[in-house]
Amino acid sequence: MIKKAYEKYVLPKLLDTCCSTKPINYQRNKVVPNASGTVLEIGIGSGLNIPYYNLSNINKIYGLDPSEELCDLALKNANHYDVEIDFLINGAEEIKIKSKSIDTVLITYTLCSISELKESLKEIKRVMKSDATIEFCEHGIAPDLKVTKWQNRVNPLWSKIFGGCNINRDIPNILSDSGFKIHNLEQMYLPSTPKIVGYNYWGTASI
Ligand SMILES: C[S@@+](CC[C@H](N)C(=O)[O-])C[C@H]1O[C@@H](n2cnc3c(N)ncnc32)[C@H](O)[C@@H]1O
Repeated sequence: MIKKAYEKYVLPKLLDTCCSTKPINYQRNKVVPNASGTVLEIGIGSGLNIPYYNLSNINKIYGLDPSEELCDLALKNANHYDVEIDFLINGAEEIKIKSKSIDTVLITYTLCSISELKESLKEIKRVMKSDATIEFCEHGIAPDLKVTKWQNRVNPLWSKIFGGCNINRDIPNILSDSGFKIHNLEQMYLPSTPKIVGYNYWGTASI
């Protein structure tokens, strides 16, 4: 019961705050404007990407997230923009969208939190058109052993506090192992961010 109350009343605001730092918003601006056509945003959260979409290139946005509370916050954010979002309150393990119907899948700071990652990436692949792309920006395993050690130590507790977020996932390998080709991969520690949570990977992936 305490866990449920935490997830309903505390976690959404915590995620909204932690994901709105200046360096993270700077990252959003590197990937979100690349989205075009019919877009599926996986783990839309509180809608922090909405201001960064180039709306003139977008036909439709589906915003998927298992958290009703976060979707409510995203809807409030969307109301400030001339954009209509179809919310799908569900995990990426089951995407209620027709196969081969999506042009861009946008994923920011969400692959860290999906529990059934293999299944979800298979589902993401199913809804993508053959020439669709995934525009992604994620945090994950750092290249320095010292940092990695701390990521592995802290991860169990971190994951409990931050709604299942894992700070030690190898994002490029996870995407490649699921059969995606990665283009333009970039990576770095975000400035003004603790190293254990601040190693970012971003780029484009295709089938
Ligand atoms: C750290 S937040 C990031 C939110 C948003 N993508 C952003 O960039 O601000 C992680 C998000 O993943 C969502 N999430 C957790 N499990 C998920 C799943 N199985 N499928 C899709 N999204 C999931 C959470 O509800 C949360 O909104």
